[in-house]
Amino acid sequence: MDYRIKSFEEYQETYQRSVEQPEEFWAGIAENFTWRKKWDQVLDWNFEEPKVKWFVNGKLNITENCLDRHLATRGNKLALIWEPNDPKERFIRFTYRELHEKVCQMANILKRNGVKKGDRVCIYMPMIPELAFSVLACARIGAVHSVIFAGFSHTAMADRINDAEAKVVLTSDGLNRGPKQIPVKRVVDEALETCPTVEKVVVVDRVGWAVNMVEGRDVWYHEELQHVDKNCPAEEMDSEDLLFILYTSGSTGKPKGVVHTCGGYMVNTDYTFRNVFQYEESDIYWCTADIGWVTGHSYLLYGPLLSGATTLLFEGVPSFPDAGRFWQVIDKFGVNIFYTAPTAIRSLMASGLDHVLSYSLDSLKVLGSVGEPINEEAWHWYHIHVGKERCPVVDTWWQTETGGIMLSSLANVTPTKPGHAAFPLPGVQPILIDQAGEEITENEQEGYLCMKFPWPGMIRTTYGDHERCRQSYFSAYKNLYFTGDGAKRDANGLWRIIGRVDDVINVSGHRFGTAEIENAINQNKHIVESAVVGYPHDVKGQGIYAFVVCGDEAPQSPEHLRAEVIETVVDQIGKIAKPDKIQIVSGLPKTRSGKIMRRILRKVAEGETSNLGDTSTLLDPPIVDEIIKGAL
Ligand code: PRX
Repeated sequence: MDYRIKSFEEYQETYQRSVEQPEEFWAGIAENFTWRKKWDQVLDWNFEEPKVKWFVNGKLNITENCLDRHLATRGNKLALIWEPNDPKERFIRFTYRELHEKVCQMANILKRNGVKKGDRVCIYMPMIPELAFSVLACARIGAVHSVIFAGFSHTAMADRINDAEAKVVLTSDGLNRGPKQIPVKRVVDEALETCPTVEKVVVVDRVGWAVNMVEGRDVWYHEELQHVDKNCPAEEMDSEDLLFILYTSGSTGKPKGVVHTCGGYMVNTDYTFRNVFQYEESDIYWCTADIGWVTGHSYLLYGPLLSGATTLLFEGVPSFPDAGRFWQVIDKFGVNIFYTAPTAIRSLMASGLDHVLSYSLDSLKVLGSVGEPINEEAWHWYHIHVGKERCPVVDTWWQTETGGIMLSSLANVTPTKPGHAAFPLPGVQPILIDQAGEEITENEQEGYLCMKFPWPGMIRTTYGDHERCRQSYFSAYKNLYFTGDGAKRDANGLWRIIGRVDDVINVSGHRFGTAEIENAINQNKHIVESAVVGYPHDVKGQGIYAFVVCGDEAPQSPEHLRAEVIETVVDQIGKIAKPDKIQIVSGLPKTRSGKIMRRILRKVAEGETSNLGDTSTLLDPPIVDEIIKGAL
């Protein structure tokens, strides 16, 4: 059944119905999938524990819905197009039938290497077809995938592997990134020195490097392929069995493993994909996100495949071999729907119009944005120069924890407005809360964005630590899910996301906790203490500004110390968390009770030091003058 909403009136009616009768609404959507056994109850929930169960006692396998059920009618339709990093290398296409076979083979490789239902499998791979096969192969046999973005360091990987107690790691020898080749297996080897639960490593030969293969632990994917069957029956899963863990940063401590389950996530991603992008059967769809992030999970793989779409997987970067690469790929494959992040748009804007004007981009119908607030300048550039004022720009707001898009325009159906995520999707019930925890009902008021009712794709728990899930999302306001974002509705009720209101910074659409980066910096032996804040950055949205206090035996020059701090962060987290600015200070502004006054540091980082507000509770006021003087 085509359950796309076709007009604004229909949206309003559907929305109303979804709020009044959420269970009937979602059950109606869920009817469209292949279930081994239907659910006994649509929803069982409370936000106190929290407990959220959708399609209770339903039995299914998500890959039967992504692959098998399409075979009869779409077996020869393209499921996946892979475009390599280097445009001179040939692209590869997989029909639904071929993808089914590849996934089954990978699933059998996992089984051959001891993976069983419920086991956790870590996937640390570049954007190659085998990454897609791996994710779906886990789902096929009921193993829980934990994809770790291949830019994370060995330390970050080891933390995640140990938290999930993963049994097997899937990886590659190396990866291509623009003009560079980067070792991958070496990073895995280093991580595994401290990961006792890992028994096997499957290695894909991507760059042709001779890598260290540990006898009895490491196997080559291409060699394993010789031993496996092309068919693998799908494991029967309960709706609430774990589908995957995806680690994301919060305001405290180490990243948390956000848990998503099979039934609700499936229904949610498919419904949102079709409606937001108004996907049509013959469309070629391209989401540029890496599968290592939630956008790649929900809208590169699961959402499009559930809908029977053709989805494009791109190995490279927007700037290689030049800043026209995105546009060249769109023309090459006739991409109709294009979904990317504001940071990519801003960096391409900075490379000049010539790159985009030399391509026709005639195939484009819908443009999407995700991951961070899109500034108006970038929105207009995208709309005018990429979409030729013909394509709606859907600004999609959501989170790792929400599993799927929550607030967004529906392309050509509901209004769009620069910088606005417009309206909640059917089934999504946002609410604005003020400082005192009261609902803000009037428009044009800023508040904290919360959700008052569950939706099928929402977080179920944080892996291994349910209390942390409760604390992080359900304890701020009674009976509400708290997003951590600030928001505002305009006079017409269109939602605008302002940004995080907690100690999370969003760098090029990637989330980091300030505490997480500080913990990393503090691992450097010369650093006594540090404080990290975000500041506005032209391309990245937010940059990372670190204030560091060093001990007596610090290296000779500030440059040397800065280089060391960067090296430590790269080692602890990865290049993506590298501070943009590092200011060496003799102390941090603290209250008498020892709390760092981040508000002051934020103002210094933003270059707005004329009004620092109340500093009377500071322990050592002169330190502020020193920090202002040394600001970078
Ligand atoms: O602050 C919001 C911002 O990204 C956060 C979620 O990050 P993550 O879990 O990594 O997921 C990113 C991709 C879904 C949110 O709390 N964010 C995401 N999309 C938008 C956004 N901010 C403004 N507008 C958006 N469209």
